[in-house]
Amino acid sequence: MKRIKAIYPGSFDPPTNGHLDLIERGSKIFDELVVAILRNPEKDPLFSVADRRKMLEAMTSGFDNVSVDTFAGLTVDYALQLEARVILRGIRAISDYEYELQMALMNRKLQPGLETVFMMPAEKYSYLSSRLVREIAELGGSIDCLVPELVEQKLREKIDVAHKFENGEQSGDKMPSEPKSKSRKKKL
Ligand code: PNS
Repeated sequence: MKRIKAIYPGSFDPPTNGHLDLIERGSKIFDELVVAILRNPEKDPLFSVADRRKMLEAMTSGFDNVSVDTFAGLTVDYALQLEARVILRGIRAISDYEYELQMALMNRKLQPGLETVFMMPAEKYSYLSSRLVREIAELGGSIDCLVPELVEQKLREKIDVAHKFENGEQSGDKMPSEPKSKSRKKKL
């Protein structure tokens, strides 16, 4: 029987327990699952691609059939390059559906041989998003149980650096490892 390789593309800024839940579910269904972080120069992410990769690698180290990679350009081209047959995406609520359907159908138009498979994370993660995690962490709320401990620690470090920067405790005019982050120091 043919082995089924799937990619799970996304921004993962930062990766959350919802992402991990989906990775676990995907790893049980597909022979191989590649978590693929989009390298998007247009976006101003909180974490660099390298940081996100490290976090995801640590989070997925217990899964034999899961690997982490980065890609640029079209998801369908990347999937083809990897000889993957499936794009895995998570749907948390009806509100996700419209965007996900549009993307899945567009990807099918671009590459009819590829299938998008939607999976639902556990209900307890249905309200969880990377954006909210960033916001809550920045405003001092608890992100306990929303992200793995390693990600929580990295978030705290980022926020501490940002606050020090705002208070003028850092030298230079850039946040360390955030080359484009003049706007990020406010937004986080
Ligand atoms: O985690 P996200 O931000 O919801 O992931 C969105 C992602 C990376 C899957 C989507 O933006 C994407 O596939 N981008 C790559 C460019 C592409 O293929 N665009 C056409 C999509 S129909």
